[in-house]
Amino acid sequence: MSVFLNIDNVSRLFGPNLSTGEKIAAKLGGNVETRAVRAVSEVSLTVRRGETLGLVGESGCGKSTLGRLIAGILPPTSGSILLDGTPVMVDGRKVTTRVQTVFQDPFASLDPRMKVGDTVSEGPIAHGLTTKSDAQGYVANWFERVGLDPVWVDRYPHQFSGGQRQRVAIARALAMQPDVLICDEPVASLDVSIQAQIINLFLELTCDLDLTCVFISHDLSLIRHVSDRVAVMYLGRIVELGPVDQVFAASAHPYTAALFGSVPKLVLDADELVHFDTIEGEVPSPLSPPPGCYYHPRCPCATDICATTQPETQTVSELRAVACHHFKAVLADKDPDLTSASTSVSAR
Ligand SMILES: Nc1ncnc2c1ncn2[C@@H]1O[C@H](COP(=O)(O)OP(=O)(O)OP(=O)(O)O)[C@@H](O)[C@H]1O
Ligand code: SF4
Ligand SMILES: [Mg+2]
Repeated sequence: MSVFLNIDNVSRLFGPNLSTGEKIAAKLGGNVETRAVRAVSEVSLTVRRGETLGLVGESGCGKSTLGRLIAGILPPTSGSILLDGTPVMVDGRKVTTRVQTVFQDPFASLDPRMKVGDTVSEGPIAHGLTTKSDAQGYVANWFERVGLDPVWVDRYPHQFSGGQRQRVAIARALAMQPDVLICDEPVASLDVSIQAQIINLFLELTCDLDLTCVFISHDLSLIRHVSDRVAVMYLGRIVELGPVDQVFAASAHPYTAALFGSVPKLVLDADELVHFDTIEGEVPSPLSPPPGCYYHPRCPCATDICATTQPETQTVSELRAVACHHFKAVLADKDPDLTSASTSVSAR
């Protein structure tokens, strides 16, 4: 598979327009009100044509910001995002329709006053993918592809269930005939039984339409199910990247190991008590990340160098990279073969 999406050294800072909660936190934490939030920090990665890249990490680590940057919804503060060699944005404006997005909450992302058929046809008509006179048939075709009855085109979003609304949102994205789909927690707001239906639809359509995807989710088992590779984010940085099976089988970064271990595990002991494994400590504020490795205050493997020097991204194997000074030791007891193949060049 050839490189399709190239995200090169991309950073995104916010501020000083902080949210109310962050302003309060900033005041409580000292005179940091004017500091920018580094939501995404020097991220470089590539996505291959037809690949689904899963993006995981704790709340606030920058997943949605990175998704919006790739989608061309948000301009980067520095760095570039190229699709097939062409920038997705020029002078702060999105210049491609080839990247489309599906968000978590279809109710919020669909215009409540617009008939869903018009919502789906609006973009394709504006970009010449269909004409006003052909729009009805065009929309009906996309409705059928996503499992909606075309007779519902004149309904409004509130007349649908959550799962159906998400199907409308998927139809709207796909009707633009994108090459890349960014899915930001697309099933997080749906009932579990509906989640499976939407995920199956996603898998079917990405395969049939040969879509390249960035799939953002908190749900690690879901990421494992849908992704070819996974990128793990921590405080705006990619700390580990690799084929999903390899990363799940033998994580090379202590944070990944902790994150995967932190999936709440139901352990019934003799007294039938329930225990949950969690990651130690709090995520530091992105307003003032710690020096050295951002993870060092929480990392059980940290040594002196971790507190002073930010680890470079290193290749572990083909398609696999990690940013940790001690990844060889982390991997040693999991997969000794991988540690011998490492170099200090980014795997992207
Ligand atoms: N428009 C904005 N203005 C200021 N700060 C922002 C803005 N959008 C995001 N941020 C900050 O950037 C950081 C990353 O946010 P982002 O929404 O990308 O995280 P996330 O990983 O998607 O989190 P979640 O899992 O909760 O959705 C957070 O500290 C957030 O407060
Ligand atoms: S660089 Fe050090 S602190 Fe950071 S994850 Fe690796 S061992 Fe832990
Ligand atoms: Mg998010």
